[in-house]
Amino acid sequence: MNNFEYYNPVKIVFGKDQLTKLPELISPNAKKIMLTYGGGSVIKTGLLDKIKNSLSDYQLIEFGGILPNPQYDKLMQGVELAKSEQVDFLLAVGGGSVIDGTKFMAAAIHHPTDPWNMLAKREAIVDTTAFGCVLTLPATGSEMNAFSVVSKGNEKIGFGGDPRLYAKFSILDPTITYTLPEKQLGNGIVDAFVHVTEQYLTQDINTPIQDRMAEGILKTLIEEGPKVIELKDDYDSRANYMWATTCALNGLIGVGVIHDWSTHMIGHNLTALYGIDHARTLALVLPSLLRYQKESKKHKLLMFAKNVWGIEGKTPEQRIEMAINKTEDFFNSLGVPTKLKAYKLDEKDIDQLIESLAPILQTGLGENRDINAIKAKEILMGAL
Ligand code: NZQ
Ligand code: ZN
Repeated sequence: MNNFEYYNPVKIVFGKDQLTKLPELISPNAKKIMLTYGGGSVIKTGLLDKIKNSLSDYQLIEFGGILPNPQYDKLMQGVELAKSEQVDFLLAVGGGSVIDGTKFMAAAIHHPTDPWNMLAKREAIVDTTAFGCVLTLPATGSEMNAFSVVSKGNEKIGFGGDPRLYAKFSILDPTITYTLPEKQLGNGIVDAFVHVTEQYLTQDINTPIQDRMAEGILKTLIEEGPKVIELKDDYDSRANYMWATTCALNGLIGVGVIHDWSTHMIGHNLTALYGIDHARTLALVLPSLLRYQKESKKHKLLMFAKNVWGIEGKTPEQRIEMAINKTEDFFNSLGVPTKLKAYKLDEKDIDQLIESLAPILQTGLGENRDINAIKAKEILMGAL
């Protein structure tokens, strides 16, 4: 096992009716709170009104319209508003995009130069405004990690890792997910599944605790996923799905193990260039990537086949292929396509994508830094 430090200060408040705890979770020293939200689902569902009523003792302002794959220019409007209104707490009410956007704003409010430099030039964060979350879409794990992904035009860049980018608290009420459309539920399950594989399907360096936890999350997603899609108001399956997605990327299964993240890196550019939902890009890349990397990932793929999919017998090669096929079938069963043709993308689009990835492909992607432009093209051609 590799050396590691683990620190996660996010207070998780999980379950039905937990929104009532909101006033006591926010520090009494906070005077003015900015509620941040997305394109309007929280208005339609009545959640925003509920939150406003429960926070009637605080001064509140609102900043809505943070759309999927939050854009820098939009977020900078929020930064200006927060500064001019002297906001001292941010409350993100939404999914990964709203939470990521809020994290960016929390740091950008205090950044002395152009805040885009925190992403493009990796400038260190100077300070942050404290923030909390009410999660509406289980998927990214952003509610319990210190990462954020922000877009500027056709660039989509991640930043984070600074402990000041952890939320003070996150409220996870599974009943809030009842209003999610089927497409977003499928996306959430796939996103969390791939968060686990990026940390689990690498090299076997004898980390049984992390591996069994990773397998537990994957099996939960496989077992609960169909129920989440089919049974609309089933509390238990929503609760298990919600907690699985948080655990997939709150750092715990990632300690001391070797990480990959190449599927995410390629996927981010698929979103930036073609507007495909984040999780959907991962479903396009992962199965083909696993096939192309099956030699270097052999031990973990065999572990995955046996412990997650229950595949035994046959040759190791056949077991690996069956596990990848089952993964692909699972994504498809959730309504998430695994082939580029579903988005009418062809070889010339792949060439354009490879070109946009050139700077990161130069240093190589994946746990062995062996995915260069040639291999990335082969992987994507395998997904046509
Ligand atoms: O915008 P509104 O109107 O609220 O509608 C949203 C949005 O259209 C809707 N929605 C959310 N909760 C709902 C709901 N509709 C009905 N009922 C509810 N309860 O769902 C749509 C998608 O929302 P979004 O927040 O974009 O989805 P998601 O949570 O999948 O977040 C995706 C973003 O997270 C980033 C992605 O790159 C992408 O920008 N990621 C962040 C990560 C992190 N911080 O650790 C890791 C991930 O790998 C990912 O990269
Ligand atoms: Zn993801």
